[in-house]
Amino acid sequence: MSPQIIDGKAFAATVREQVKDYTHGLKQQHGITPGLAVVLVGDDPASQVYVRSKGKHTVEAGMNSYEHLLSADTSEAELLALIHQLNADPAVHGILVQLPLPPHLNEALVINAIDPSKDVDGFHISNVGLLATGQKAMVPCTPLGCLMMIREYCGILTGLNAVVAGRSHIVGKPMAQLLLAENCTVTVVHSQTRNLPDILRSADIVVAAVGKPLFVQADWIKPGATVIDVGINRVEQEDGTTRLVGDVDFESVKEVAGAITPVPGGVGPMTIACLLANTVTACCRLNALPEPGFLNPIT
Ligand code: GUN
Repeated sequence: MSPQIIDGKAFAATVREQVKDYTHGLKQQHGITPGLAVVLVGDDPASQVYVRSKGKHTVEAGMNSYEHLLSADTSEAELLALIHQLNADPAVHGILVQLPLPPHLNEALVINAIDPSKDVDGFHISNVGLLATGQKAMVPCTPLGCLMMIREYCGILTGLNAVVAGRSHIVGKPMAQLLLAENCTVTVVHSQTRNLPDILRSADIVVAAVGKPLFVQADWIKPGATVIDVGINRVEQEDGTTRLVGDVDFESVKEVAGAITPVPGGVGPMTIACLLANTVTACCRLNALPEPGFLNPIT
């Protein structure tokens, strides 16, 4: 049986259209335009690409984009002053500080200075706690995008075995919380796990977020499982060129899985779509307006 290749690019385009429609409605009915502020410290080329892409999609969705590009030697006091200014600005509904920050800046201190209701990354300690206790939170964008795709392909998730590979704050841990909230039986495996292949073989749903190219093998996958690949790894090929691969050995795993995300074109596009969705959600909550429930599974 051939697997379903989950088209994250098309799925993300649908989510962005929904965001655009809702944004249009907010403008027409309430005179409010959602605004997203993105802060980049330093000149890391990969971060610059991400930030530009976020700005472009924000504008295309009809929202206001505010970019703050700061030099690599920005002090913690200067960065905190900017965050306080954005917290107080009524035109800004979402604030994202691009990570990683230069080493002289304390990441936790900076993230926790963001107003939690504007924390569209869902990284503030309050949002982490709210998600963990099943309360209304801002949910991190990548796991939110993964959950949307898993729901689409698996339907009701109650009772399914989900294995999350990776325990990062950005993906693994919040992903596990979201799947628990969907009544899955969740196991988190990581670099110190014993019998990792055996645990993966029990999974109806696999989310791979370990940052190791082509790590997950076909004989670790239960036939028919849904496999979500969060990895983005650039690997050098024999001819000296590079290509992007995920954490899953796509070519072999697709012969076993029921549904699988490709890299590129799977989870990646969903992350930015969910950032836009979170910005609309934050805007609605800040203005005490009904929020678009179809965009956010945790209400
Ligand atoms: N750097 C890599 N991924 C992310 C993300 O999702 N949010 C932020 N703020 N920085 C990142």
